[in-house]
Amino acid sequence: MKLLIAGGAGYLGTTLIPKILERGYSVDVVDLFWFGNKLPAETGILNKDIFDLTVSDLTGYQQVIFLAGLSNDPMAEYSPSKNFIFNAAAPAFLAYMAKKAGVRRYIYASSCSVYGYTENELYDESRPVSSNYPYGISKLQGEQGVMNLADGAFSVISLRKGTASGYSPRMRLDLIINTMFKCAIRDGEITVNNPSIWRPIISVVDAASAYIRAIEANENISGIFNVASGNYTVGEVADRVKTQIEQQVGKRIKLRIKHIQDVRNYKVAIEKAGNVLSFHPQHDVGTIVQDLIENMDKFSDWDNPLYYNILAFHGLEEKKSVLEPLGIMAAAEK
Ligand SMILES: NC(=O)c1ccc[n+]([C@@H]2O[C@H](COP(=O)([O-])OP(=O)(O)OC[C@H]3O[C@@H](n4cnc5c(N)ncnc54)[C@H](O)[C@@H]3O)[C@@H](O)[C@H]2O)c1
Repeated sequence: MKLLIAGGAGYLGTTLIPKILERGYSVDVVDLFWFGNKLPAETGILNKDIFDLTVSDLTGYQQVIFLAGLSNDPMAEYSPSKNFIFNAAAPAFLAYMAKKAGVRRYIYASSCSVYGYTENELYDESRPVSSNYPYGISKLQGEQGVMNLADGAFSVISLRKGTASGYSPRMRLDLIINTMFKCAIRDGEITVNNPSIWRPIISVVDAASAYIRAIEANENISGIFNVASGNYTVGEVADRVKTQIEQQVGKRIKLRIKHIQDVRNYKVAIEKAGNVLSFHPQHDVGTIVQDLIENMDKFSDWDNPLYYNILAFHGLEEKKSVLEPLGIMAAAEK
């Protein structure tokens, strides 16, 4: 099987791709390499923007996976116009082109952020979504754009992931557990902005497994699936990170608890992904922290801007290399 992964050089892609290669599939990545290239040498590379892909570029692939876009709230809020172009228009455009090229399946990296602020209820995929912030709205629009194309000849699977964490070759330190881990080790202190807020967390390894399950699912399966390793309050996550670092690294960690209002609060049911895709998470906060401790030497240059999407994005914007590949950006800027 031959797969094309858009945005495959990112945090999730660099954990997922070695697992896909291990299974004997062939993988090409189309990416703008905003955060560098940590891909295995066997990966085929197309260094270009999604919007520059033609039907002939997409011909010959059985499946296309979308992992691109502006992948957090600070990036989305920094540039709402780019957020909606990269997160809502790009996945729909790519799915449309893939379908024209005869691709059989399209897998979309959605997010549980589409659920917005909920009142301590467990949300499954049939529940209404109501985010009112740019990232959540654009991820939902991207999802709607691609799901509309599903039919008997074109399977579309949307994976609504919780917030990912854990070590990946393209490391991010702007994700909940990874940020707490960095602050604990570097500063001896974890700041909790609101301990009562609920978040589904997914280990990056479980996230990669969810994509493998989607790639290998029966070809008549399409649909939207919540995927997470577990639901936790932010306060509980901080307690677990603190306790494990104290026990294993032998460093005392202080907690600084604040009570700042958040726009996101949700917990999700993952039974549908278990029943339909056979996705069963293997990780929790403990194994994520263990993974970070074991790989710490690879990212202990804590302030490297490449580990923080918004810092890397600012740097790219200064160089204009984010904007130049997209002629349409000039219009969107006005
Ligand atoms: N990381 C999470 O916690 C999380 C949770 C839920 C959903 N998601 C979604 O999963 C996907 C992957 O997340 P990630 O953390 O790996 O992201 P990431 O920011 O690490 O990587 C995104 C990659 O996409 C590339 N890219 C962006 N726009 C592009 C374009 N127009 N053309 C070509 N390449 C482009 C970038 O160069 C980068 O390599 C994103 O769509 C994100 O919204 C992530």
